[in-house]
Amino acid sequence: MRCITNSGKRKCSAEMRENMKQDMIVILDLGSTENTTIARQIRELGVYSEIHPHDITLEELNGMQNVKGIILNGGENRIVDGKAVEISPELYSCGYPMLAIDHPTAQCDRKQEALPDEETLKEFVFDVCHAEANWNMKNFIEDQVELIRKQVGDKKALLALSGGVDSSVVAALLIKAIGKQLVCVHVNHGLMRKNESESVIEVFQKQLHANLVYVDATERFLGKLEGVADPEQKRKIIGGEFIRVFEEEARKLEGIDFLGQGTIYPDIIESGTKTAKMVKSHHNVGGLPEDLKFELVEPLKQLFKDEVRACGIELGLPAEMVYRQPFPGPGLGVRCLGAITRDRLEAVREADAILREEFEKAGLNKKVWQYFTVVPDFKSVGVKNNARCFDYMVIIRAINTIDAMSATIEKVDWDVLEKITNRILAEVEHVNRVCYDMSPKPPATIEFE
Ligand code: XMP
Repeated sequence: MRCITNSGKRKCSAEMRENMKQDMIVILDLGSTENTTIARQIRELGVYSEIHPHDITLEELNGMQNVKGIILNGGENRIVDGKAVEISPELYSCGYPMLAIDHPTAQCDRKQEALPDEETLKEFVFDVCHAEANWNMKNFIEDQVELIRKQVGDKKALLALSGGVDSSVVAALLIKAIGKQLVCVHVNHGLMRKNESESVIEVFQKQLHANLVYVDATERFLGKLEGVADPEQKRKIIGGEFIRVFEEEARKLEGIDFLGQGTIYPDIIESGTKTAKMVKSHHNVGGLPEDLKFELVEPLKQLFKDEVRACGIELGLPAEMVYRQPFPGPGLGVRCLGAITRDRLEAVREADAILREEFEKAGLNKKVWQYFTVVPDFKSVGVKNNARCFDYMVIIRAINTIDAMSATIEKVDWDVLEKITNRILAEVEHVNRVCYDMSPKPPATIEFE
């Protein structure tokens, strides 16, 4: 079984599945782009499903618990990373029921030429494999709590709690499993949205009684970023500084053996085959120094994003936290364009709060995938209180997408836009103009930097 490591050790999936009670259908990746769709379809039937590499051995397969059947999915050509692939011949005679999808030479009893419809999948999963529909969030949480307790024992774990969906759900799950043995570190880099750090403290410290270390590193980050206008350099400074602050806090704490991470299933699936060119460097806590040796605890690594949200709700997290829109690691730092100044940073934060409030009132928060404001680093001429003014502009961006790889703009109702514009102009200092970004991705990206 392949283990993926970065700063720590990642437990093998087979090892982690020990004790899991749910039946599983294994999808073998023979190069199809539809693997995740099929995995999702099966999970929607209430049966757990995982995607594994085509070269899995029978021993590895037998090492997983409760495998009820195998789906071979490769498209006509069965090409992975440019090479034709085949599964290990011993798998054909191992006794597991198999369904081949677009796999002309498969030697199993059942073949399917196109993406399977729900009826075909149901028939295979329930009638052929006799799998039980026992995959649900309650069972998942019970299993994970047991696994986390077994993995961590009486040791301590550390977690960088940004307040984003994934880190919040991991925190809630780890708190349920090991309580005060978990130390959460929330680093406020000064680039958070309005009241964001306050809400992390309210939910995790006051409501869930987490062991929470709050670090206000605003001055440190803004100092490092002073005068830096290049977007990639800004991202690198924010990401690098974040790791340094987190590392300093980790070194202050004694006897920590584990590091919690909000890795989710798409991260695992993509990590093996991702060939896409980097457009922007994204930041997370992946780059901790080698001498900080932690074993990773990644209880969400089997979940798709919507399942992570369902898990958060089941754990009692507030809906605003669980259903919040994506927010980049470098925060408002990439929305206060060019070299960050405090007046523009405050303007982007206040304008964003107004936009979010008005989108919520208009019900657009449930409809639009991502929406935010941006403040460029130039001024334009205007008139305020009968006098000439020279002030900044706020750009509103609201987009819809499925996977953030491409995006279309939301055609926001004119009246809603006008109300937001009037509020920004009246309430946000140093702003005399509001614009709406009409650009799809591509050619624009969702963020401006
Ligand atoms: P772009 O601008 O590349 O954004 O079209 C695609 C999606 O990714 C989010 N984004 C980030 N998320 N760390 C993150 O976790 C980052 O550094 C980062 N940069 C962009 C962006 O908000 C959008 O949803």
